Amino acid sequence: MSFLSKVKSQILIVARPLVRWLRPAPLNQLRPMSRRWGHERGTSIGRWYIDRFMERNRNDITGVVLEIKNRRYCDSMGHDVTVADVLDVDRNNTNANIFTDLAQADCVPSEKYDCFILTETLQFVFDLNSAIQHAWRILKPDGVLLVSVPAISPQDKELAEVDCWRFTPRGCKLLFGNVFGQENTHVEPYGNFASSVAGLSGIVVEDIPIEELQTYDSMFTHGVLVRAVKR
Ligand SMILES: C[S@@+](CC[C@H](N)C(=O)[O-])C[C@H]1O[C@@H](n2cnc3c(N)ncnc32)[C@H](O)[C@@H]1O
Repeated sequence: MSFLSKVKSQILIVARPLVRWLRPAPLNQLRPMSRRWGHERGTSIGRWYIDRFMERNRNDITGVVLEIKNRRYCDSMGHDVTVADVLDVDRNNTNANIFTDLAQADCVPSEKYDCFILTETLQFVFDLNSAIQHAWRILKPDGVLLVSVPAISPQDKELAEVDCWRFTPRGCKLLFGNVFGQENTHVEPYGNFASSVAGLSGIVVEDIPIEELQTYDSMFTHGVLVRAVKR
């Protein structure tokens, strides 16, 4: 280390506590406002993007539909739905009628579904390749898979023991593209610094101007949406 660098590092050692004392970071920026995605106050940031993605693709939600945990998007966005199945690994889920780990879903018949809505679930599935293979297998030809996965997100306390992954746009393109074909896989990353920090902090959509959510900054991808078609 040169003499100048040594002097600089000594100055920094002395100056840092002084700067911290003169300009302390506001404590409200260092603690989350909510440990439940802000559910107690409004719409979580991630959900705002997922809802819009589903609205854009609502034409796909038709015929024989499968969803995870409940019929949230099937009921709110579907049209001409003839069957609405709900899959969950959790046997206590009274909304579900198919109980299996998605990575071992051999009990679900092949080519059954026109649409599979797979939101906020793959982070809990260790064997992603197997789960995506099953998603492909159970879709009819031309069937559509609609996916959302988190990129920057707190851990769900209730599911922390099975929480395995966070995702990037590139990772999703490869994961889904390798099974559905790159040309049949459309990946839409979303979010920016504001949405990611707000999402971590439990700030909700009602708290901030919507314009803050509308731009995408690839340095701070908040989550990834995927539409994949079985050709
Ligand atoms: C955070 S919830 C998301 C549910 C809903 N799709 C949504 O968008 O709000 C995750 C759900 O995935 C289920 N799950 C976790 N691991 C799973 C697995 N390996 N196979 C199938 N479902 C799983 C959980 O039991 C839970 O119901």
